[in-house]
Amino acid sequence: MKASILSALYEADGYVSGQQLCDKLAVSRTAVWKVMNQLKEEGYVIESVPRKGYRILERPDCVTAEEVQSRLQGRHAEWNIVYYDRIDSSNNEAKRMAEAGEQRTTLVLAGEQTGGKGRRGRVWVTPKDTAIAMSLLLRPSIRPEHASSVTLVMGLAIANACREFCNVDARIKWPNDIVVNGKKICGILTEMSSEVDYINYLVIGAGINVNMESFPEELQQTASSLRLLTGAKTDRAGLIAACIEQFDRCYALFEKTQDVSLLREEYNALLAGTGGQVRVLEPGNEYTGISRGIDEKGDLLVEREDGTIQPVYAGEVSVRGIYGYV
Ligand code: BTN
Repeated sequence: MKASILSALYEADGYVSGQQLCDKLAVSRTAVWKVMNQLKEEGYVIESVPRKGYRILERPDCVTAEEVQSRLQGRHAEWNIVYYDRIDSSNNEAKRMAEAGEQRTTLVLAGEQTGGKGRRGRVWVTPKDTAIAMSLLLRPSIRPEHASSVTLVMGLAIANACREFCNVDARIKWPNDIVVNGKKICGILTEMSSEVDYINYLVIGAGINVNMESFPEELQQTASSLRLLTGAKTDRAGLIAACIEQFDRCYALFEKTQDVSLLREEYNALLAGTGGQVRVLEPGNEYTGISRGIDEKGDLLVEREDGTIQPVYAGEVSVRGIYGYV
């Protein structure tokens, strides 16, 4: 109900009367009044004028489930969304929920992470209320070897959402990062529980650098934030909603073929470094080649010196651009 009241307030051009809210949501005046008080306690500034109704004047910059859901009303209601002010890691929480039997597609959001995880055992810092830390719990009916394609779907969704919502030239650094002007603004960590031929669940965690105003010196050459790139604060809940809508669209196309063939063209158009040199670091086999975009399986096609094309599987290797981070 809180999310529906918030969306009614956001959508209204002026005041919304208590009666309108009661009729729309089929609840009592007292129930509406209670929610208004809760919202005020959470930092929303809501004006209430007798015989006119309620009007929202200010909202806190938060990414609570209600705030995100209020942006999705009517367009996307199926996901279970949960929010924690402070948690070790949203990926860990999504895994705990999966292990406890959660069957719904669930998005875990965190205001702050105290044990955020990056890939290859690295630490991922999510400062309080300035970034996006989100983890999507999915139980897809695909084979474990196709799980890495879902990371590509999420990467494409986030790149598109950043482009449309923040108007930045977001590109994908295959397979897990989103970059703008050669600097990383988002990293994705996918974790999986599976049998040999069956996925129990997938957790796709994404950390987006949104409103940070600075980075530690050692990251300044390689990382940036949407705030530093655009000069403006981004509404994080709105960006999360844009990511959810994009993921939904892209994932539906992925599900049709169980691969990325229907997304390949769109993906390759946003892929960073195509035509540039990359170094492939496979266990026991390192080589240099030219990046030629992804194929329908999501493998990166690398042209070797002898002209042969080598598909590189996202789950197994690391690819580095030769010049700079991308
Ligand atoms: C990387 O680039 O190394 C991947 C970073 C992934 C960070 C996100 S933030 C949300 C989710 N929770 C985590 O602990 N990690 C991922």
